[in-house]
Amino acid sequence: MYVLVNVSTILIFLGFLIIDSVICNGLFYLQRIPSSCVETTINSTTNNNLTSNCFIFDWQQISNFTTNYTTYINPDTNQTFYVYSGALTVLGTIDNYALDYHCPPTGYNGVGSGCTVQIDTQLVMLHVNTIDRKIYAIDVILSGTPFPSLSNLTDNQPPFGKARHIFSSGIAMQSTGYLKICKSNTSTQCPFASTNTYKLPNPLPSNTGYGIFGIQANSFVTDAVWIMDDIRQLLIVTLGTTYYYFNASGFFIYQYDTNACAWMPSCNYQCEAYNYNSRFLDYSGVWIITKKWGIASMKPVAVQAWIGNAIDAAGVFPIVMYTDNATGHYIGLDKLDTVIGSKRGATYWYLIHDTTVTLTTIATYRPSVVDVGCVSKLSDWAGTMSSCATFFKLNNIQIIITLLILTYIYFL
Ligand SMILES: *[C@@H]1O[C@H](CO)[C@@H](O)[C@H](O)[C@H]1NC(C)=O
Ligand SMILES: *[C@@H]1O[C@H](CO)[C@@H](O)[C@H](O)[C@H]1NC(C)=O
Ligand SMILES: *[C@@H]1O[C@H](CO)[C@@H](O)[C@H](O)[C@H]1NC(C)=O
Ligand SMILES: *[C@@H]1O[C@H](CO)[C@@H](O)[C@H](O)[C@H]1NC(C)=O
Ligand SMILES: *[C@@H]1O[C@H](CO)[C@@H](O)[C@H](O)[C@H]1NC(C)=O
Ligand SMILES: *[C@@H]1O[C@H](CO)[C@@H](O)[C@H](O)[C@H]1NC(C)=O
Ligand SMILES: *[C@@H]1O[C@H](CO)[C@@H](O)[C@H](O)[C@H]1NC(C)=O
Ligand SMILES: *[C@@H]1O[C@H](CO)[C@@H](O)[C@H](O)[C@H]1NC(C)=O
Ligand SMILES: *[C@@H]1O[C@H](CO)[C@@H](O)[C@H](O)[C@H]1NC(C)=O
Repeated sequence: MYVLVNVSTILIFLGFLIIDSVICNGLFYLQRIPSSCVETTINSTTNNNLTSNCFIFDWQQISNFTTNYTTYINPDTNQTFYVYSGALTVLGTIDNYALDYHCPPTGYNGVGSGCTVQIDTQLVMLHVNTIDRKIYAIDVILSGTPFPSLSNLTDNQPPFGKARHIFSSGIAMQSTGYLKICKSNTSTQCPFASTNTYKLPNPLPSNTGYGIFGIQANSFVTDAVWIMDDIRQLLIVTLGTTYYYFNASGFFIYQYDTNACAWMPSCNYQCEAYNYNSRFLDYSGVWIITKKWGIASMKPVAVQAWIGNAIDAAGVFPIVMYTDNATGHYIGLDKLDTVIGSKRGATYWYLIHDTTVTLTTIATYRPSVVDVGCVSKLSDWAGTMSSCATFFKLNNIQIIITLLILTYIYFL
């Protein structure tokens, strides 16, 4: 009791000291709108009273509701960061840029009805230095509102993409009070204002990945596979005991638990695989990823990080997506919650990846769409296959054994 009283006395005293104290200066901009660049002042306050040209974050939500899936080195500075991501209540606007997330209307790009979002919610990524534990940048995912027709969307043009706050000397993380970021002047100092040189290839280079799917809030990790055969317009995606088999007309979903297979014509190969592109995602630089949550140990890998949305029949996914800097292979994504505190954010990370060998990689994957009873012949789903493509490669067994050694399931 004695200790508790003392601690709260100190906290009240500190709280009094930090009212409206200037922490550092920063920059704010929308990556695809060069004229949006402004200088900011950053204050920590004890109230969330709104003033014009300011954003107000709630520190308690930051400490409660963000997940931490990725640790990376910025190769330009050699500093290491944790990426905290999540949905947060953020009040205010700067220069009439309201960054509140809105769900696309049902049917937009084939989107299902699953997206929910509360008012005044921003979807953010905080870049926290692993040594001083200060925040050096915040990325905010733009929802794409007012959602122009798909035929009108162009690579690296608004309204999709991201906004970014940069804090020159970092902001110490706090557990209570509010973080207030206000415009102080216009500026021309923002980096990467034009990103026309950075575009995701569409389609992505066809590749195969073996790795994990995990949900940090549930301490849940399972195996995951991605096999993309662009020439044949075939895609196998698995997470745990759920298997998706896409072809040019739709997809089969098979659940091991119920031993049930269902055909869905709603989203085909193109709908699933071609959504990862620069109409919806902004380039965020080369990161050397040294640690992914859910993986016991990994060799550092240089990736290109892309921040924004993936939109397909399963819904809208605010994501950070990773492609291998050397090969262009798709190697994973971190998916954010749209609902504050719902903690359904998840990660896919393919530890082992390679170029897909057309027909062969799909034909040798087990369980095949035939094994799980969705069709009686592979060609019923894949179209005409060569007759020699149904052997089981030793390669796959080695990959699975390596995976079992590399992945580590967190039990609580
Ligand atoms: C931030 O704090 C400084 C110093 O207390 C103050 O002058 C400034 O007006 C504050 N800015 C905002 C937007 O609250
Ligand atoms: C914040 O707003 C409340 C209610 O409008 C008001 O009572 C309070 O004085 C304000 N605080 C500050 C620091 O402006
Ligand atoms: C953060 O979590 C604590 C404990 O679970 C809870 O009491 C508090 O209300 C939460 N804060 C916010 C802002 O939701
Ligand atoms: C980062 O580290 C590498 C290897 O240690 C070194 O070559 C490079 O100069 C460093 N870059 C900076 C900006 O410190
Ligand atoms: C497409 O863009 C043009 C030019 O900005 C605009 O006039 C038109 O209304 C847009 N069409 C749709 C369907 O969004
Ligand atoms: C605002 O920025 C302009 C140039 O962008 C500069 O000339 C001016 O001094 C700045 N004003 C303040 C108050 O910093
Ligand atoms: C973030 O995740 C990394 C790796 O999983 C872990 O080492 C680190 O302690 C976490 N940081 C915080 C502040 O939770
Ligand atoms: C990323 O790829 C580019 C182009 O190939 C290369 O110049 C750069 O050194 C790579 N970055 C890292 C950190 O590997
Ligand atoms: C995809 O699979 C379905 C179900 O077996 C089949 O009806 C359809 O013809 C296949 N599409 C293509 C383009 O092969």
